[in-house]
Amino acid sequence: MPIAQIKFMPDNRIIQVEEGTTLLAAAAQAEIFIKSGCGGKGTCGACKVVVQSGEPQVTGTGNLTPDQLSKGVRLACKTIIQGDMIIEVPPESRLQEHQVLLGDTQKGLLQESEHDLLETFGHHPLATKQRIVLSSPTLTENTSDWARLTMELRRVLKAGDRPIHIPLSILQNLPETLRKANWDISVTLTDLESGFTVTHVEAGNNNPLFGLAIDIGTTTVVVYLIDLSNGKIVDQQGSYNKQARYGDDVISRIVYAVESEENLQLIRQAVVETINDLVDKLLSRQSIPQTDISSAVVAGNTTMTQLFLGVDPKYIRLEPYIPTMSTVPSVTARDLGLHMLPEALVHCYPSVASYVGGDIVAGTLVTDLANGEDITLFIDIGTNGEIVLGNQDWLVSCACSAGPSFEGGGITFGMRAMPGAIERVVIDSDTLDVSLKVIGKGLPVGICGSGLVDCLAKMLSAGIIDRAGNFQLGHPSGSERLRETADDKEFVLAWAHQAGGQKDVVITENDVKNIIRAKGAIYAGIRSLLNMVAVDLEMISRIVIAGGFGNYLNVHDSVRIGLLPDLEPERFEFIGNSSVKGARLALLSQRAWREAEELGRKMTYVELSVGATFMDEYVSALFLPHTDLSLFPSCH
Ligand code: FES
Repeated sequence: MPIAQIKFMPDNRIIQVEEGTTLLAAAAQAEIFIKSGCGGKGTCGACKVVVQSGEPQVTGTGNLTPDQLSKGVRLACKTIIQGDMIIEVPPESRLQEHQVLLGDTQKGLLQESEHDLLETFGHHPLATKQRIVLSSPTLTENTSDWARLTMELRRVLKAGDRPIHIPLSILQNLPETLRKANWDISVTLTDLESGFTVTHVEAGNNNPLFGLAIDIGTTTVVVYLIDLSNGKIVDQQGSYNKQARYGDDVISRIVYAVESEENLQLIRQAVVETINDLVDKLLSRQSIPQTDISSAVVAGNTTMTQLFLGVDPKYIRLEPYIPTMSTVPSVTARDLGLHMLPEALVHCYPSVASYVGGDIVAGTLVTDLANGEDITLFIDIGTNGEIVLGNQDWLVSCACSAGPSFEGGGITFGMRAMPGAIERVVIDSDTLDVSLKVIGKGLPVGICGSGLVDCLAKMLSAGIIDRAGNFQLGHPSGSERLRETADDKEFVLAWAHQAGGQKDVVITENDVKNIIRAKGAIYAGIRSLLNMVAVDLEMISRIVIAGGFGNYLNVHDSVRIGLLPDLEPERFEFIGNSSVKGARLALLSQRAWREAEELGRKMTYVELSVGATFMDEYVSALFLPHTDLSLFPSCH
């Protein structure tokens, strides 16, 4: 295939690609991330670019208007490169730098308890290093190299009769390694219930060992670099999951992955690349060699875990929604292609069900939910709302599809929590004047989940909407912000001149209805789970909220719109990225890892689509805050 030169503007980035490549794939190659909500099917319209020069082959234009087409606007996923081109990628088509939840953004109680938890579980990392000095063999002391090493390891590790495994690749080099080191070596091992596994043998050194705690989110991936000797987070890095080029959500990624074996490998490779890029950055910043990374724990939802391992995810989305495995065997970094010690073991958190995955098990471990008699409700709010309820005696979980509204999807000016997103809204009830708080303190370009919750609560209080979310155009203020267009009714949050764009930033009646449906699904999930186990709200001691959205959520406004139950604010805790925290805990504590595996087995999954309870609760929750106001006494 001939090679073409593509220049991306305004980045001024030039790459060479084979003709026949889509612009979407070429942009990803140039590390320019373009939104691709439908995974390149040409239906979502998110991947718009402007062809400034060149004659590409266009295989689809979706719902681009004649005006857009005449201005050179094309869908990147349906534009095939033929010859050199100059392409402009407008800001609204880009996955922008995300406020990746690294887990340290919320300084609070949970960080303390996380620290306490490590003390409770005990600092005993999954990987350890042992300095071993063997005596040289002689004609009379003539046992094999491996037998001599095993004997000494068994003594030092107090291993009893637990097996000690050694992979072939290490065995192959063992004789030379031992002799070159003059029998003074360091052995890195992973210590699991099933026995010890040697992951590295080198000439004796006392360098510290490091491990990786990895959260594979559908949207973002976060990696902590951990010093295993003291449990400290040496450094951390997060970025978008490169799988985003194959679709925004788990369903579109499954659809892409199951199309062919090649697609499954491509999507697997995308997340491995993402992790490796993050690891490379961490290692180069800290001047640490890959061979000092001796262990990793990964937490992700069930689909992310299966895709990371290259396991066919097809049946996750087909009734009765069965994942391939719950417990995941440990896999070597070599097999996964990760940039760490090749024989180091990578441990993935177990899943409970197709829609309650390892990230939720990790969160449950960090919340310490399964210890003590007090009942805790743990909610991870994202596209799916995953909910866990229980205490030391029982644990139930469910997942409810909230839709993408809280992450900005399906909302006219919706966006993820990133610079330019409105995260706080104040509305003067008399004049309908608006004050905004914008992430990054720049001009507002859209509104993120926490801003939407704020906005809805304030619009309700100001009488802009009624309890069903209907706009009240006859508002006594007569404000110009409240208006009707040809398409919808809307409220102006920021005028175009204040927003640095060409359009006013608005929230429409349709947006409001979408948010009501999303919050209704979460609240209905909570109520359904409570009903099933006959637990009254008052019996819940703590409500722990996790997720990118949870980190910035205003409890008062969340209750006001009926997203969260009406309980005293003191009962709510925010935990941020509980997935990566759980990965760290397991990496540093064998007991925590065993408990995580136990949690995965112990947690009962409730499928909400079975029976009418969820649907009844959902319909009742489609009001602000709810049809049954007795459930929200503080909102009267
Ligand atoms: Fe191109 Fe959806 S239209 S990714």
